[in-house]
Amino acid sequence: MNNTITVGLLGLGTVGSGVIEILRDHKERIEHKTGCHVTIKSVLVSDMKKPREVPAETQLTDQYQDITRDPEIDVIVEVMGGIDHTLTILLEAIEHGKHIVTANKDLVAQHGEQLFEACQKHQCDLYYEASVAGGIPIIRTIMDGLSSDRIHKMMGIVNGTTNYIMTKMAQDGVDFDSVLKEAQELGFAEADPTADVDGLDAARKMTILSILGFSMPYRLEDVDLKGIRGISSADIMYAEEMGYRIKLIGIAENDHNGVSVSVEPTMLPIQHPLSSVNDEYNAVYVYGDAVGETMFYGPGAGKLPTATAVVSDLIAILKNIRLGTTGTAYVQPQFPKQVKTKDEKISKKYIRLHVDDKAGMLSELTNIFAQYDISFDQFIQRSTDEEGERELMLVTHQVSESDFEKAAQDLDSLAAVRNIDSIYRVEGGN
Ligand code: NAP
Ligand code: HSE
Repeated sequence: MNNTITVGLLGLGTVGSGVIEILRDHKERIEHKTGCHVTIKSVLVSDMKKPREVPAETQLTDQYQDITRDPEIDVIVEVMGGIDHTLTILLEAIEHGKHIVTANKDLVAQHGEQLFEACQKHQCDLYYEASVAGGIPIIRTIMDGLSSDRIHKMMGIVNGTTNYIMTKMAQDGVDFDSVLKEAQELGFAEADPTADVDGLDAARKMTILSILGFSMPYRLEDVDLKGIRGISSADIMYAEEMGYRIKLIGIAENDHNGVSVSVEPTMLPIQHPLSSVNDEYNAVYVYGDAVGETMFYGPGAGKLPTATAVVSDLIAILKNIRLGTTGTAYVQPQFPKQVKTKDEKISKKYIRLHVDDKAGMLSELTNIFAQYDISFDQFIQRSTDEEGERELMLVTHQVSESDFEKAAQDLDSLAAVRNIDSIYRVEGGN
């Protein structure tokens, strides 16, 4: 083998150790595909005292400059996480002509543009397949497989932790706090699960998909974001009764009014393919004008699934190096950013509320909805343990975000409305 490609690995945790394992176990296959021998020269870690298993030729360092400034290193694989400090390291590496593979969605969602500009300037490659949905090759699918089509909608279960929690709540009737604790004990949920549970992790991934899928410089700040903390067993039960399952879904839509991206607990028809994506699995549903509906399913995280995506990116770079085409893959977004207003964001809605059980209550409620031209698709009412109280669950037909918000405010100000418990987006039907 004439060509040796030298890699510097930043991070040797879950994904980093998977990268070493795949490069070792699939050595011949990778050499056959690329005509290159890959060697990991250096690995950056923070704790030099931890026991590690690395190849004989690999040295450990806690000084990133040992890697970014090493003239022998061709490609940097960043699997350490973090944002600002990691950005500094990668920008310095790019200035030194290194190609980059990263699994870091936090970084790509926030600073992707800056990294791409630096890469273009220095003719470097930047690949980030593992940053969205771990082992599912969704970025390559959107960039290559569907590149001839116009994508107008993507729906994704792109966070494994929250999908695990929602699945257990629905299947076992357990409350949110107990499942979260169990997920942490099993190692699915991180010690600090804030970014997962509050939807930020999924919003970062949907931002990356939206920029690519719609060729528009969409930003994380433009995503409508609501996590799963407030979900109650009652909503899950009523949703099932009405023919729906609640999932944390990222929905990105692009039409003549512009783009809207939301990450929020959403009621999906039980027969929708995403409704049966359970536990920690991920799936992305893509609607193209020409191809129609497609769905991609698989493990969204984990040592080997994520490392597979990272090493596939490395292989893409090796091929580019051999062909002399590095630094040419990036395509600027084709369209300026156009974010939909609340009047233009249209969906069905579910609302659950507690009201006084008195004559005329329902007509007060329907009068408010009628003022905003909102009609109902489904309606359930139940008695509660409270004296003189009813619990109402409604699913509307399609309504704008702004009209629904105004109707909900008017409802809240009715003397007979004791409490609005929950409001969710509903997918499917008119
Ligand atoms: P991890 O297990 O926590 O490992 C992080 C590694 O980076 C550790 O080896 C750590 O060193 C090193 N590190 C962190 N900060 C450092 C610093 N400032 N200086 C030097 N070394 C530092 O993380 P991971 O789960 O492998 O995730 C890595 C990246 O992949 C993250 O961006 C994550 O979002 C992304 N990702 C992970 C998964 C997954 O399933 N885990 C899936 C998709 C994407 P020590 O070993 O010395 O502590
Ligand atoms: N915390 C993430 C999840 C890991 O639960 O999906 C993969 O990005």
